[in-house]
Amino acid sequence: MKKIGIFYAPAKGSTEKVIKMVAQKLGSDAELHLIDEKTNPESMDKFENIIFGISTVGRDHWDAQYKKIGWDMFLPKLTGYDFNNKTIAIVALGNHIMYEDNFLDALGHLAPIIKNQNGKLVGEVPVSKFSDFEHINSFGVIDNKFPGLPIDDDNLSDVTDERLNEWLTELKPKFA
Ligand SMILES: Cc1cc2nc3c(=O)[nH]c(=O)nc-3n(C[C@H](O)[C@H](O)[C@H](O)COP(=O)(O)O)c2cc1C
Repeated sequence: MKKIGIFYAPAKGSTEKVIKMVAQKLGSDAELHLIDEKTNPESMDKFENIIFGISTVGRDHWDAQYKKIGWDMFLPKLTGYDFNNKTIAIVALGNHIMYEDNFLDALGHLAPIIKNQNGKLVGEVPVSKFSDFEHINSFGVIDNKFPGLPIDDDNLSDVTDERLNEWLTELKPKFA
């Protein structure tokens, strides 16, 4: 398996905590990159395998607490980026109790960008896989699937580790 570039934001919260768990589980197969104001899509050029880490903190303002860094700066830069020959998976953080109508909306924005720009998206998860999330009504669900791994570390932190393990076991063979 070729090296996996992990790109995530924001820092200091649950996304960083969970994405560092992912990196630790992948060990030397992974290279961790915090997305900041200097991160350009070209940083991804050398990777055929990519994992994105993203949280939803309001649909129109991705990182309300971190206005000058993170996905709010990076998403617009992805316009026109060619994901051809790249296999990409997403870990998405949200809160299914407080935001059941907007649970993981950011995932619903990011996944189509990858697909529409020639990327091969892997690691999708049927909503029915996790009964906790079956009642939610969200932009982050496409064709009854989450186009990435849904993590609610606010309410379900006790299952985060086991869900990551299971997802990574299925995901690894899909990477080049
Ligand atoms: C201001 C604010 C808005 C949020 N909006 C949403 C939302 O629309 N949908 C959702 O699923 N979670 C929402 N959340 C929950 C976060 O996604 C969740 O707490 C996540 O773990 C935060 O990760 P982070 O600390 O890395 O940003 C919101 C949290 C905050 C603080």
